[in-house]
Amino acid sequence: MSFLTGLFAFLFYFAALVLVVGLALKVIQYARTPAPLKIPTTPAPTTQSGVVFRMAREVVLFESLFRGNKWTWIFGWVFHFGLFLVTLRHLRYFLDPVPLPIQLIQPFGIYAGFAMVAGLAGLWARRVLVDRVRYISAPSDYLILGLLILIGLSGLTMSFLVHTDVVSVKSFFLGLYAFNLQPLPGDPLLLLHLLLVAGLMIIFPYSKLLHAPGLFFSPTRNQVDNPRERRHIAPWAKRLEQP
Ligand code: HEM
Repeated sequence: MSFLTGLFAFLFYFAALVLVVGLALKVIQYARTPAPLKIPTTPAPTTQSGVVFRMAREVVLFESLFRGNKWTWIFGWVFHFGLFLVTLRHLRYFLDPVPLPIQLIQPFGIYAGFAMVAGLAGLWARRVLVDRVRYISAPSDYLILGLLILIGLSGLTMSFLVHTDVVSVKSFFLGLYAFNLQPLPGDPLLLLHLLLVAGLMIIFPYSKLLHAPGLFFSPTRNQVDNPRERRHIAPWAKRLEQP
Protein backbone atom coordinates (compact mmCIF):
# COMPACT_ATOMS: atom_id res chain seq x y z
CA MET A 1 0.00 0.00 0.00
CA SER A 2 1.43 3.38 -0.99
CA PHE A 3 1.65 6.34 1.36
CA LEU A 4 -0.82 8.22 -0.83
CA THR A 5 -3.46 5.47 -0.65
CA GLY A 6 -3.11 5.31 3.12
CA LEU A 7 -3.30 9.07 3.46
CA PHE A 8 -6.46 9.42 1.35
CA ALA A 9 -8.09 6.42 3.03
CA PHE A 10 -7.52 8.04 6.42
CA LEU A 11 -8.73 11.39 5.09
CA PHE A 12 -12.00 9.91 3.79
CA TYR A 13 -12.69 7.91 6.96
CA PHE A 14 -12.13 11.07 8.97
CA ALA A 15 -14.22 13.26 6.64
CA ALA A 16 -17.09 10.72 6.60
CA LEU A 17 -17.06 10.56 10.40
CA VAL A 18 -17.13 14.35 10.76
CA LEU A 19 -19.92 14.62 8.16
CA VAL A 20 -22.16 11.90 9.59
CA VAL A 21 -21.70 12.65 13.31
CA GLY A 22 -21.66 16.43 12.80
CA LEU A 23 -24.80 16.34 10.69
CA ALA A 24 -26.61 14.01 13.11
CA LEU A 25 -25.80 16.30 16.05
CA LYS A 26 -27.04 19.35 14.14
CA VAL A 27 -30.27 17.65 13.07
CA ILE A 28 -30.91 16.57 16.69
CA GLN A 29 -30.29 20.14 17.80
CA TYR A 30 -32.68 21.50 15.17
CA ALA A 31 -35.35 18.93 16.07
CA ARG A 32 -35.12 19.83 19.77
CA THR A 33 -35.24 23.60 19.26
CA PRO A 34 -38.67 24.83 20.42
CA ALA A 35 -40.98 26.56 17.95
CA PRO A 36 -43.18 28.40 20.46
CA LEU A 37 -45.13 30.49 17.97
CA LYS A 38 -47.35 29.81 14.96
CA ILE A 39 -45.45 31.67 12.23
CA PRO A 40 -46.11 30.05 8.82
CA THR A 41 -45.46 32.53 6.02
CA THR A 42 -48.89 33.19 4.56
CA PRO A 43 -50.61 32.33 2.31
CA ALA A 44 -49.87 28.94 3.86
CA PRO A 45 -51.50 25.51 3.57
CA THR A 46 -54.25 24.70 6.06
CA THR A 47 -53.64 20.93 6.07
CA GLN A 48 -50.67 18.66 6.78
CA SER A 49 -50.66 17.27 3.23
CA GLY A 50 -50.67 20.85 1.95
CA VAL A 51 -47.51 21.49 3.99
CA VAL A 52 -45.86 18.41 2.46
CA PHE A 53 -46.72 19.75 -1.01
CA ARG A 54 -45.40 23.21 -0.13
CA MET A 55 -42.15 21.71 1.15
CA ALA A 56 -41.79 19.62 -2.01
CA ARG A 57 -42.15 22.76 -4.14
CA GLU A 58 -39.58 24.50 -1.97
CA VAL A 59 -37.09 21.62 -2.30
CA VAL A 60 -37.57 20.97 -6.01
CA LEU A 61 -38.32 24.44 -7.39
CA PHE A 62 -36.96 26.83 -4.71
CA GLU A 63 -40.35 28.54 -4.75
CA SER A 64 -39.76 31.27 -2.16
CA LEU A 65 -36.41 32.17 -3.72
CA PHE A 66 -38.21 32.48 -7.06
CA ARG A 67 -40.59 34.98 -5.47
CA GLY A 68 -37.70 36.82 -3.85
CA ASN A 69 -35.14 37.26 -6.61
CA LYS A 70 -35.18 35.89 -10.14
CA TRP A 71 -31.41 36.12 -10.81
CA THR A 72 -30.43 34.40 -7.58
CA TRP A 73 -33.11 31.82 -8.28
CA ILE A 74 -31.94 30.98 -11.79
CA PHE A 75 -28.26 30.64 -10.81
CA GLY A 76 -29.04 28.85 -7.55
CA TRP A 77 -31.46 26.44 -9.17
CA VAL A 78 -29.16 25.64 -12.11
CA PHE A 79 -26.29 24.98 -9.70
CA HIS A 80 -28.33 22.71 -7.42
CA PHE A 81 -29.97 20.81 -10.25
CA GLY A 82 -26.54 20.29 -11.86
CA LEU A 83 -25.16 19.13 -8.52
CA PHE A 84 -28.07 16.71 -8.14
CA LEU A 85 -27.38 15.05 -11.51
CA VAL A 86 -23.61 15.03 -10.90
CA THR A 87 -24.21 13.33 -7.53
CA LEU A 88 -26.44 10.70 -9.15
CA ARG A 89 -23.78 10.08 -11.79
CA HIS A 90 -21.10 9.71 -9.10
CA LEU A 91 -23.02 6.88 -7.44
CA ARG A 92 -21.37 4.56 -9.98
CA TYR A 93 -18.16 4.86 -7.93
CA PHE A 94 -19.90 3.76 -4.76
CA LEU A 95 -22.41 1.07 -5.85
CA ASP A 96 -21.69 -2.34 -7.32
CA PRO A 97 -23.53 -3.40 -9.44
CA VAL A 98 -24.56 0.03 -10.75
CA PRO A 99 -28.41 0.28 -10.75
CA LEU A 100 -30.03 0.84 -14.16
CA PRO A 101 -31.31 4.40 -13.43
CA ILE A 102 -27.75 5.42 -12.49
CA GLN A 103 -26.45 3.88 -15.73
CA LEU A 104 -29.05 5.81 -17.74
CA ILE A 105 -28.26 9.12 -16.07
CA GLN A 106 -24.53 9.02 -17.02
CA PRO A 107 -24.63 11.13 -20.22
CA PHE A 108 -26.80 13.79 -18.53
CA GLY A 109 -24.64 13.82 -15.42
CA ILE A 110 -21.51 14.62 -17.36
CA TYR A 111 -23.01 17.78 -18.90
CA ALA A 112 -24.68 18.71 -15.65
CA GLY A 113 -21.14 19.44 -14.46
CA PHE A 114 -21.09 22.48 -16.79
CA ALA A 115 -24.48 23.66 -15.51
CA MET A 116 -23.22 23.32 -11.96
CA VAL A 117 -20.13 25.45 -12.58
CA ALA A 118 -22.09 28.04 -14.62
CA GLY A 119 -24.60 28.43 -11.78
CA LEU A 120 -21.78 28.83 -9.25
CA ALA A 121 -20.09 31.44 -11.45
CA GLY A 122 -23.37 33.39 -11.53
CA LEU A 123 -23.68 33.22 -7.75
CA TRP A 124 -20.09 34.45 -7.41
CA ALA A 125 -20.76 37.34 -9.86
CA ARG A 126 -23.83 38.30 -7.83
CA ARG A 127 -21.71 38.67 -4.69
CA VAL A 128 -19.26 40.93 -6.55
CA LEU A 129 -21.63 42.95 -8.72
CA VAL A 130 -24.66 43.60 -6.51
CA ASP A 131 -23.67 46.27 -3.98
CA ARG A 132 -26.02 45.23 -1.19
CA VAL A 133 -24.93 41.58 -1.47
CA ARG A 134 -21.21 42.46 -1.68
CA TYR A 135 -21.60 44.46 1.53
CA ILE A 136 -22.77 41.43 3.52
CA SER A 137 -20.53 38.83 1.83
CA ALA A 138 -18.03 37.21 4.18
CA PRO A 139 -14.85 35.27 3.31
CA SER A 140 -16.65 31.99 4.05
CA ASP A 141 -19.21 32.77 1.31
CA TYR A 142 -16.41 33.04 -1.24
CA LEU A 143 -14.56 30.08 0.24
CA ILE A 144 -17.52 27.75 -0.22
CA LEU A 145 -18.26 29.00 -3.74
CA GLY A 146 -14.58 28.69 -4.66
CA LEU A 147 -14.37 25.18 -3.21
CA LEU A 148 -17.37 24.02 -5.24
CA ILE A 149 -16.11 25.71 -8.42
CA LEU A 150 -12.69 24.06 -8.08
CA ILE A 151 -14.28 20.66 -7.43
CA GLY A 152 -16.41 21.12 -10.57
CA LEU A 153 -13.53 22.34 -12.76
CA SER A 154 -11.13 19.59 -11.64
CA GLY A 155 -13.87 17.00 -12.27
CA LEU A 156 -14.72 18.38 -15.72
CA THR A 157 -11.03 18.47 -16.66
CA MET A 158 -10.79 14.79 -15.75
CA SER A 159 -13.93 13.92 -17.71
CA PHE A 160 -12.91 15.78 -20.87
CA LEU A 161 -9.16 16.42 -20.97
CA VAL A 162 -6.90 14.51 -18.61
CA HIS A 163 -8.54 11.19 -17.79
CA THR A 164 -7.95 9.17 -14.67
CA ASP A 165 -8.41 5.45 -14.07
CA VAL A 166 -12.04 5.46 -12.90
CA VAL A 167 -12.03 1.67 -12.37
CA SER A 168 -9.27 2.02 -9.77
CA VAL A 169 -11.05 4.99 -8.20
CA LYS A 170 -14.09 2.74 -7.74
CA SER A 171 -12.06 -0.14 -6.26
CA PHE A 172 -10.49 2.28 -3.80
CA PHE A 173 -13.88 3.53 -2.56
CA LEU A 174 -15.53 0.09 -2.50
CA GLY A 175 -12.47 -1.18 -0.61
CA LEU A 176 -12.99 1.47 2.08
CA TYR A 177 -16.35 -0.14 3.04
CA ALA A 178 -14.56 -3.36 4.07
CA PHE A 179 -11.34 -1.74 5.38
CA ASN A 180 -9.60 -3.39 2.44
CA LEU A 181 -7.37 -0.66 0.98
CA GLN A 182 -6.95 -0.72 -2.80
CA PRO A 183 -4.41 1.49 -4.62
CA LEU A 184 -5.63 4.98 -5.51
CA PRO A 185 -4.32 6.43 -8.83
CA GLY A 186 -1.80 9.21 -8.17
CA ASP A 187 -3.05 11.67 -10.83
CA PRO A 188 -2.70 15.21 -9.47
CA LEU A 189 -6.14 16.32 -10.68
CA LEU A 190 -7.87 13.36 -9.05
CA LEU A 191 -5.99 14.00 -5.80
CA LEU A 192 -6.97 17.67 -5.92
CA HIS A 193 -10.60 16.75 -6.66
CA LEU A 194 -10.70 14.32 -3.74
CA LEU A 195 -8.86 16.64 -1.35
CA LEU A 196 -11.39 19.41 -2.00
CA VAL A 197 -14.31 16.97 -1.66
CA ALA A 198 -12.97 15.80 1.73
CA GLY A 199 -12.68 19.49 2.70
CA LEU A 200 -16.30 20.05 1.69
CA MET A 201 -17.44 17.06 3.76
CA ILE A 202 -15.55 18.36 6.81
CA ILE A 203 -16.91 21.91 6.69
CA PHE A 204 -20.47 20.83 5.83
CA PRO A 205 -21.79 20.41 9.39
CA TYR A 206 -20.27 23.73 10.51
CA SER A 207 -21.20 25.99 7.64
CA LYS A 208 -24.12 27.60 5.87
CA LEU A 209 -24.37 24.43 3.80
CA LEU A 210 -26.61 23.30 6.66
CA HIS A 211 -29.43 25.14 4.91
CA ALA A 212 -30.08 21.79 3.20
CA PRO A 213 -31.33 19.90 6.29
CA GLY A 214 -32.31 23.21 7.93
CA LEU A 215 -35.03 23.88 5.39
CA PHE A 216 -37.10 21.03 6.80
CA PHE A 217 -37.00 22.53 10.29
CA SER A 218 -38.02 26.04 9.24
CA PRO A 219 -41.23 26.96 11.14
CA THR A 220 -42.24 29.52 8.52
CA ARG A 221 -42.41 26.69 5.97
CA ASN A 222 -43.28 23.54 7.91
CA GLN A 223 -46.22 24.80 9.96
CA VAL A 224 -49.90 24.34 9.10
CA ASP A 225 -51.94 27.56 9.04
CA ASN A 226 -54.57 26.37 11.53
CA PRO A 227 -54.28 28.55 14.66
CA ARG A 228 -58.06 29.25 14.61
CA GLU A 229 -59.01 25.58 14.49
CA ARG A 230 -56.36 24.37 16.90
CA ARG A 231 -54.65 26.30 19.67
CA HIS A 232 -50.86 26.21 19.30
CA ILE A 233 -49.16 25.52 22.62
CA ALA A 234 -45.44 24.86 22.85
CA PRO A 235 -44.57 21.75 24.92
CA TRP A 236 -43.09 23.83 27.77
CA ALA A 237 -46.18 26.06 27.88
CA LYS A 238 -48.39 22.96 28.06
CA ARG A 239 -46.57 21.89 31.23
CA LEU A 240 -47.15 25.34 32.79
CA GLU A 241 -50.86 25.19 31.99
CA GLN A 242 -51.53 21.95 33.86
CA PRO A 243 -52.86 22.56 37.37
C1 HEM B 1 -15.54 10.95 -2.95
C2 HEM B 1 -16.31 11.57 -3.80
C3 HEM B 1 -15.96 11.81 -5.25
C4 HEM B 1 -15.23 11.02 -6.12
C5 HEM B 1 -14.60 9.67 -5.87
C6 HEM B 1 -15.19 11.71 -7.39
C7 HEM B 1 -14.55 11.26 -8.53
C8 HEM B 1 -14.64 11.83 -9.80
C9 HEM B 1 -14.03 11.33 -10.99
C10 HEM B 1 -13.15 10.09 -11.05
C11 HEM B 1 -14.39 12.14 -12.02
C12 HEM B 1 -13.98 11.99 -13.50
C13 HEM B 1 -15.02 11.17 -14.22
C14 HEM B 1 -14.58 10.74 -15.59
O1 HEM B 1 -13.39 10.75 -15.89
O2 HEM B 1 -15.48 10.40 -16.37
C15 HEM B 1 -15.25 13.17 -11.48
C16 HEM B 1 -15.86 14.16 -12.21
C17 HEM B 1 -16.61 15.18 -11.67
N1 HEM B 1 -16.85 15.40 -10.33
FE1 HEM B 1 -16.34 14.17 -8.83
N2 HEM B 1 -15.88 12.90 -7.28
C18 HEM B 1 -16.38 12.98 -5.99
C19 HEM B 1 -17.15 13.98 -5.45
C20 HEM B 1 -17.63 15.07 -6.15
C21 HEM B 1 -18.45 16.12 -5.61
C22 HEM B 1 -18.95 16.20 -4.13
C23 HEM B 1 -18.72 16.98 -6.61
C24 HEM B 1 -19.51 18.26 -6.60
C25 HEM B 1 -19.61 19.07 -5.55
C26 HEM B 1 -18.06 16.49 -7.81
C27 HEM B 1 -18.12 17.09 -9.05
C28 HEM B 1 -17.63 16.54 -10.23
C29 HEM B 1 -17.91 17.08 -11.54
C30 HEM B 1 -18.75 18.33 -11.85
C31 HEM B 1 -17.28 16.22 -12.45
C32 HEM B 1 -17.29 16.36 -14.00
C33 HEM B 1 -18.58 15.82 -14.58
C34 HEM B 1 -18.71 14.33 -14.38
O3 HEM B 1 -17.87 13.57 -14.89
O4 HEM B 1 -19.67 13.93 -13.68
N3 HEM B 1 -17.40 15.32 -7.49
N4 HEM B 1 -15.38 12.97 -10.12
